[in-house]
Amino acid sequence: MTRVRFSKPRPDLDVAPGANLMRALQEADIPVASSCGGDGVCAKCRLRILEGAENLSPESELERDLRERHGLEEDERISCQAQVLGDIRIDASYW
Ligand code: FES
Repeated sequence: MTRVRFSKPRPDLDVAPGANLMRALQEADIPVASSCGGDGVCAKCRLRILEGAENLSPESELERDLRERHGLEEDERISCQAQVLGDIRIDASYW
């Protein structure tokens, strides 16, 4: 299992290696903003990766395009497009 930790007080979440980040959070009843349901269109599911960015799957061409069009910060990822491959620590502005 890989571990997702949070910057805000919230229990750690263990997820299977390779799990989709947004789906894993939603399955644990942790809200993730979205208006496209994970289709890689809205970029609202962006999350800040505080530690372990190297433990996420590499950015796809689609995610790079979203990053440019929606002005993501360097430390943000589109969570519906990222697989968790190792331990990470994350944050969202609305948590
Ligand atoms: S949920 Fe819309 S791009 Fe991720």
